[in-house]
Amino acid sequence: MRCTSLVAAASAVALAGTALAQADSTQYIDAVTGFTFSQYVNDKGIVFRTALPADAQVNANYDAVLQLIVPISVGWAGFAWGGSMTYDPLTIVWVNGADVVLSSRMAYGYYVPPAYDDATYTVLKKATHVNATHYQLTALCLGCTLWGDSDTGITSIDPTAKGSLAFAFATAPVTAPSNNASSFSIHDVVGHWTHDFSVAANDDFNATVAKNL
Ligand code: HEM
Repeated sequence: MRCTSLVAAASAVALAGTALAQADSTQYIDAVTGFTFSQYVNDKGIVFRTALPADAQVNANYDAVLQLIVPISVGWAGFAWGGSMTYDPLTIVWVNGADVVLSSRMAYGYYVPPAYDDATYTVLKKATHVNATHYQLTALCLGCTLWGDSDTGITSIDPTAKGSLAFAFATAPVTAPSNNASSFSIHDVVGHWTHDFSVAANDDFNATVAKNL
């Protein structure tokens, strides 16, 4: 009896290990921008893509490109670089007429996240637009791959590994769409996934960024 339980426990551990090792993202080679992305698509059809420089190193604050493609019916969508609502950089996106608005936030509790200034974004305009069905943001971020301080601890994304990411979105529009400091209401849906950063190493990262500016 005792032996049986031990075997069962060992199998459970092995299974948990396997589940964690599987990525929910896949490689996506984008002919339009020239980036090789790691891509995850959620049940709502929101596309989350990351691209990294080939020479990125863990524990260094390296550049990253984020591309979000969001159905026009979504009021705002958010991407959590550390896989949780709180204490990691959040990239929020919404639409303002023909413009796509990017807002950098960090949450310190379960309330509207304030602006986060330690992440600096450059919108890649040639790959950012609104059409009848979707809005698309492509942005370079410095400050999205390493964050924290001595109190909360430093977290860094390992560019050669899999990491935990999270999304949130709401159908309700934000309060003041033209203002990237706008307030907005709580998400309708949140989710977590395992993202394989290693499939999106870009040899020509800087040149590809420049091409899409
Ligand atoms: C008005 C703004 C927001 C409010 C009031 C809010 C509130 C909350 C609350 C109360 C929870 C806990 C739910 C539970 O435990 O059942 C939660 C969870 C969560 N929220 Fe928000 N939230 C807001 C914005 C955001 C944004 C912008 C993101 C960006 C990605 C986000 C991502 C998440 C995630 C991923 C969770 C699941 C728990 C975790 O992984 O941390 N939230 N939120």
